[in-house]
Amino acid sequence: MTRVLSCIQPTGEVHLGNYLGALRNWVIGQDKADVFHGIVDLHALTVTEKPGVLGANTLQLAAMLFAVGLDPDIATVFVQSHIVEHSQLGWIMECTVSFGELSRMTQFKDKSAKREAEFVSAGLFTYPALQAADIVLYDANEVPVGDDQRQHIEITRDIAIRFNHRFGETFVIPKAVTPASGARVMDLQNPTAKMSKSGDDDSGVIYLLDTPAAIEKKFKRAVTDSDSEVVFDRERKPGISNLLEILAASTNTTPQKAAESYTRYGDLKSASAQAVIAMLSPIQAKYDELLRDKAELMRLIHKGNDRARAVASATLERAHKSIGFLGCN
Ligand code: TRP
Repeated sequence: MTRVLSCIQPTGEVHLGNYLGALRNWVIGQDKADVFHGIVDLHALTVTEKPGVLGANTLQLAAMLFAVGLDPDIATVFVQSHIVEHSQLGWIMECTVSFGELSRMTQFKDKSAKREAEFVSAGLFTYPALQAADIVLYDANEVPVGDDQRQHIEITRDIAIRFNHRFGETFVIPKAVTPASGARVMDLQNPTAKMSKSGDDDSGVIYLLDTPAAIEKKFKRAVTDSDSEVVFDRERKPGISNLLEILAASTNTTPQKAAESYTRYGDLKSASAQAVIAMLSPIQAKYDELLRDKAELMRLIHKGNDRARAVASATLERAHKSIGFLGCN
């Protein structure tokens, strides 16, 4: 069966764009392939300087992954820092990638430029080597990623091919695949930009844990377009099209079909809010239940970790043997 790996950083609250764009497809995907989902806290450490934050975020993200429907009996949900093999293979990957290759990564250039006045860790620079380790540790065949991560999968392939060439066949060569297309959810206040938690102003961002009142308020204030026609046309009517896309994704229809039922912006806004509230309410209930019983939540996490570790440790051992470290053969 195809092994598919996706990873997510525990860097903050999950929002509607994450859910409708990606997480919901992870849930569908668990019945089609052998899926591994890493919560990559070591990656988040590249930009974390406060104690306690990563652990809390990781626990909440794990609860959210189970709450949206990942089934711990079939999907392998694991925490990166709990599987020491990531750091160990990460170093080996660092020695298999060149300074020049890492220097060409556009994400590093963007992120380091944005952190101009802040601490730019060496980890931010070597990050792709750790990501390569994440991927090859699990013999992943496919890694579904957006365009921003394609370069990191390319470099992973280059590193894995180089290692195999230097030390003998060891790693499965992964390929980037386009994720099953989810909804494209834009910021309610700025409907030409993707919904994202990175902006300072999050009045256009719906979080999965928002209360019904907060959701209603955000939809009520959503930016619409100048005329008053309800049609799906992203170019001409980005605000209304975004509401239609969200409403359609939340009620399993198409934006075009959803448009047929509305003539007034106000009605569309409240229908979208209600659809999102109805969709999120069982997820929130499950999330609360999971966080109320931390022992059970930890049991689910450890279950995923154990499965992940079994695969990862076998791969690391293979790599050590290929290199020929003393005593490995
Ligand atoms: N770099 C990815 C991101 O920023 C996260 C990530 C880390 C990842 N390791 C991975 C994604 C392995 C896919 C596979 O979103």
